[in-house]
Parts: sequence; structure tokens; C-alpha cells
Amino acid sequence: MAKSKPAKSKSPAPGKKTTGLNPVASTSRIDIGIAGSDRKEIAEGLSRYLSDAFTLYLKTHNFHWNVTGPMFNSLHNMFEAQYTEQWNALDEVAERTRALGFNTPGSYAEFIRLTSIREEQGADGVPDWKGMVQQLVSGNEAVCRTARAVLKTADEAGDDPTVDLLTQRLQTHEKYAWMLRSLLE
Ligand SMILES: [Fe+2]
Repeated sequence: MAKSKPAKSKSPAPGKKTTGLNPVASTSRIDIGIAGSDRKEIAEGLSRYLSDAFTLYLKTHNFHWNVTGPMFNSLHNMFEAQYTEQWNALDEVAERTRALGFNTPGSYAEFIRLTSIREEQGADGVPDWKGMVQQLVSGNEAVCRTARAVLKTADEAGDDPTVDLLTQRLQTHEKYAWMLRSLLE
């Protein structure tokens, strides 16, 4: 799975999408009972998960700022509750990657490269409230798909803390997806 070149290598050829997955080990002095190759695969997955979760966090905060229409008050507040909770959860994911002995991505360039969620256009392309809710349903579902894949990898490696962390995130994002989806039904 991790046959790609180091993430810090030059830009990909035009039109060639690279996942850039090759986490940098921050130490070789680690022996927590999980094989190095397994820790690396989990760190790769957590980096992808963090990138999805950060992109969704930013999208939710963006929509908190830019939402308009008759649903303004309830959506403005709902988005705030969700982005605040998501923001606090990012830290646990990044620090789990560090505990596994790898550096964590922390720049917009890395998050954009690694995420499976399309980034917002920004102030020039603000959707209406229904478009926002639909995008957040899709974003929460994408985060769930990534979490589920990484959770499977961690479970097979006996990495219970990562399984526990991602189980909690799945519960939360599946709930958010349900609440948002209900607004459109
Ligand atoms: Fe605010």
C-alpha cells in the first residue's frame, strides 16, 4: 500500500494525482507491541482521516459564517456546535499518530492532498442552505468511510486505542450525517 515516493518529493506530473502517503517516522526508539509496518500503515490511515476531518471542520465553520435564509438561526447554531466538537476532536487524532511514532500532517497543502472531500470554493461560491446541508451530509459520510477503513487496519494490528478513538468518531459523524440528512427529508 505504501509504495509511493516520500511526501516531500517534488510535485506530481500534471494530471497525475498522488496520495502522498508516506508518513515520516519521528523515532525508531519505540516498542509498544505493534510492528513497525503496522504502525506505519495505521499512521498513513490516520493522516488521511485527519485530512478528511479537518476539511469537514473547515467546511462546517465556513457554512456557519456564510449561511443565509429562513433557516439561518438554527443552522448557524447547529453548524457551530458541530464545528466546535470537530475541532476539539482533531487534536486526539493527530496526537495518536505521534504516539505511534510518526509525524502528523498539519498544513493546508497536506490536507488538500490527502483528503477525499472536495474543498469549498470560498466566498465566490457560497451554496444556498440546502446545498450546504447536502454537502455536510456527504462530508460526514466521507469521514465515516475513511474512519471505517482505518479502524479495520488498526483492529487487525491490535491497536485498541486507535480502534476506540475511531469508534467514537464514527458514532459522532454518523449522528451528524443523520441529523443533517433529516433536514432535507
Ligand atoms: Fe460564530
